[in-house]
Amino acid sequence: MYTSNVDLDRVPAHVAIIMDGNGRWANARGLSRNAGHEAGEQALFDTIEGALELGVSELTVYAFSTENWRRPQDEVRFLLEFNESLLLRRLDELDERDVRVTFIGRRERRVPRRLIRRMDESMAKTARNTTMTLRIAFNYGGQAELVDAARRVAEDHAAGRLKRIDDRAIAARLYDPDMPPVDLLIRTSGEQRLSNYLLWQAAYAELVFTETLWPDFTRMDLAQAVHEYQARDRRFGKAVDKVITVRSQ
Ligand code: IPE
Ligand code: IPE
Ligand code: MG
Repeated sequence: MYTSNVDLDRVPAHVAIIMDGNGRWANARGLSRNAGHEAGEQALFDTIEGALELGVSELTVYAFSTENWRRPQDEVRFLLEFNESLLLRRLDELDERDVRVTFIGRRERRVPRRLIRRMDESMAKTARNTTMTLRIAFNYGGQAELVDAARRVAEDHAAGRLKRIDDRAIAARLYDPDMPPVDLLIRTSGEQRLSNYLLWQAAYAELVFTETLWPDFTRMDLAQAVHEYQARDRRFGKAVDKVITVRSQ
């Protein structure tokens, strides 16, 4: 079984993925970048199956960043339409797998109304599913999220609804206040940066970078990343004394 090197009792509860490398995957095959995005769909669904098999309870994927508007107009338009069509075509399947679908990101005018409506319908239809939460970060940026939270903190403070400005006050005003901290953050395609992803929630995440381009990523790669995670020593700032056996000469 491909999960045999994973300890199923210590699976990270929350896995976040930066699905990167679609463009390079396509370029290497002489295809358009958009064909690379299309090829990423089966990687996403295989990863979802893998997460379900491992017993991951939250999977948060980066689909479109607040910086991705800087791409050529036809690629931006393609990504907007592709995400909408993906929800339309595959929501029933996610619902049957008892997956709750939810979204984080800025809901602003340049996000088409039709897509927003599709997101709302997807959330409503799957709201009662409990096996896993699939959270799609769309028009998401960690800095934008913190700015939006800070604005709400200021408003609530001025209106007398909030007294203490502390970490809980901010956490409660993020896009999804129920979102647990990220345990494992995976980025594909060899890039080793956060690109504005989950800046607050990934504060103590273990980071795993893989050379695999996103369209080639499978549940096997997910299991491998979880295996790497399980070899890490999570400290959360505490001092950890370890018994080190020193062999005498
Ligand atoms: C990730 O693949 C998908 C999105 C950012 C939407 P890229 O399109 O960034 O692929 P590369 O990094 O150019 O290979
Ligand atoms: C991050 O990837 C955003 C998504 C995967 C949606 P990018 O490819 O946009 O990130 P940079 O520009 O290489 O940092
Ligand atoms: Mg990229």
